[in-house]
Amino acid sequence: MRAVVTGGAGFLGSHLCERLVAEGWHVLCLDSMLTGATANVAGLRQHERFRLESYDVTRPMEIEGDVDWVLHLASPASPKDYLDHPIETLQVGSLGTFNCLDLARWKEAGFLFASTSEVYGDPKVHPQPESYWGNVNPIGPRSVYDEPKRFSEAAAMAYQRAHGVPVKVMRIFNTYGPRMRRRDGRAVPNFIDQALAGAPLTVHGDGSQTRSLCYVDDLVEGIWRFLNAEGTGPMNLGNPHEVTVLELAKLIADLAGSGSEIVFTDRPIDDPELRCPDISLAREALGWEPHVTLEEGLARTLEWARGAWT
Ligand SMILES: NC(=O)c1ccc[n+]([C@@H]2O[C@H](COP(=O)([O-])OP(=O)(O)OC[C@H]3O[C@@H](n4cnc5c(N)ncnc54)[C@H](O)[C@@H]3O)[C@@H](O)[C@H]2O)c1
Repeated sequence: MRAVVTGGAGFLGSHLCERLVAEGWHVLCLDSMLTGATANVAGLRQHERFRLESYDVTRPMEIEGDVDWVLHLASPASPKDYLDHPIETLQVGSLGTFNCLDLARWKEAGFLFASTSEVYGDPKVHPQPESYWGNVNPIGPRSVYDEPKRFSEAAAMAYQRAHGVPVKVMRIFNTYGPRMRRRDGRAVPNFIDQALAGAPLTVHGDGSQTRSLCYVDDLVEGIWRFLNAEGTGPMNLGNPHEVTVLELAKLIADLAGSGSEIVFTDRPIDDPELRCPDISLAREALGWEPHVTLEEGLARTLEWARGAWT
């Protein structure tokens, strides 16, 4: 099997590339390095079945040889990144998605899209099943991320209906683990960075908003099973264990043994109040659910960050 993985030098993409190579696949990783790093795939660079090309997928792709899957993960993903790169985020989730779909159509390959829980916006249904259509502000600052993800889902479904491209849409919920960037603004690296520096942990609002955090190894297992299963989705992949942001900050401070105090700052605009996946479909269709506890996953991430960041 041969996959083209866009965004493969990012946090999730690099873990996914490793899994695909370990499963015997050939992987062509296309990444513009906007928010990725060659260091993320350093362990794969010498592998004969792995190739990294610096490429912006908003440009059409001409690729030699057979391709079985186009896995489209390219996109800034952290709020800080997509607010810093609003136009690039809109482009990779529109022009980039079209280019990936055209590649899949040309090569008679399947197309897997990394969508997001952000398609549910600030949800009015909790936990969120795939059947929920969401509550997204189309003109708010976060729309530069949410709307291209929604658009890409629509484009994928249209290519399946109009051109018969086999499509899979996964809606990934907050995932964390080694290789997150230290200052990408997401809660886990942010709190870990602050805790390791012995600095105060900055919690948005009163910290009562909830998040559900999935350890990266669990997520990659879910993606692998989805790839190998029947069905288009959309498929929620995430950990339904819900914690408040304040609980998360306290847990990281405890695990780091930093004794950092917690301080409260303003909430970002349109920051979702509640976020928790309903993973009934993944349990039933893939026999999948996360196994790494939050304590264990955070401990592993802290250990990695101590080595990588300090
Ligand atoms: N990590 C999460 O919690 C999460 C949750 C939901 C969805 N997702 C989705 O999963 C994917 C990967 O997220 P991540 O957390 O690994 O983010 P990341 O920023 O670490 O990785 C994204 C990668 O895409 C690359 N990229 C961006 N624009 C590109 C372009 N035009 N051409 C080629 N490469 C480009 C970046 O350089 C980077 O390597 C994204 O599509 C994201 O929306 C992630």
